[in-house]
Amino acid sequence: MAKIIDGKAVSARVKEKIAMETAELKAKYGVSIGLAVVIVGDNPASRIYVNNKKKACEAVGFESFEYALPTETTQEELLALIDKLNKDDKVNGILVQLPLPKHLDEKLVINNISPDKDVDAFHPVNVGKIMIGDYSFLPCTPAGVMELIASTGVEICGKECVVVGRSNIVGKPMSMLLLHKSGTVTTCHSKTKDLAEQCRRADILVAAVGVPNLIKGNMIKEGAVVIDVGMNRLENGKLCGDVEFETAEKAAGYITPVPGGVGPMTIAMLMQNTLTAAKTKLGIQ
Ligand code: GUN
Repeated sequence: MAKIIDGKAVSARVKEKIAMETAELKAKYGVSIGLAVVIVGDNPASRIYVNNKKKACEAVGFESFEYALPTETTQEELLALIDKLNKDDKVNGILVQLPLPKHLDEKLVINNISPDKDVDAFHPVNVGKIMIGDYSFLPCTPAGVMELIASTGVEICGKECVVVGRSNIVGKPMSMLLLHKSGTVTTCHSKTKDLAEQCRRADILVAAVGVPNLIKGNMIKEGAVVIDVGMNRLENGKLCGDVEFETAEKAAGYITPVPGGVGPMTIAMLMQNTLTAAKTKLGIQ
């Protein structure tokens, strides 16, 4: 039976450390750290994420500035806000909650965020830096997964790592971070021929496809570390991951629950990036 990886506990430790550093910076330099969160429209899931981000800011001692814009917001209006936030000294980090309403161009919006304030690490400059392993901002969800793997004590170096999913936000940067730690990385996706066979080779398996319960226990190697990034809402309203927990926990060595696994880590890493932005601005990073 697998050991459960407690994402809430790991994220609490990360946030505690950030809170201490934030207090030190305040005492030493008299600065406060600010995160601007922009949400357009009324997507209920986005609303929950944004509220959680605001709560996390409070917990670590950051200021949070929320910009809740109506669905009809135009491209020009949104870009004007980004421009204002790029120039605002009180704002160290800018996060535009995705997805945006369909009439808005996400790529254009991301490209207009100053790379120095791009705490999601979505700007092409930061994505490029992740690719070459020379990065200041961590891709939040993959970085959170790396912390969870580290918490198990399992070494990545030389291990078979299988990432299921190739999104720009999770799958691709996830594979990159595992590769930087010298894992042997396979990236699977919807066109992969025999997904079960690929997964069964994995010492470390990361599922990030957004398909409820896709990964079953019989696709998992005995003792593997299984990280479930999936956050799917079933018709009955229940949340479930990409991994079928009940069967998977019988095979895995370590496994994350949904909720309470990767989710809290993503937010902790966002706080970490905002702190990094502030430290870089002060010239102490
Ligand atoms: N929507 C879902 N996940 C994310 C995320 O990590 N960042 C942003 N900005 N939007 C999201």
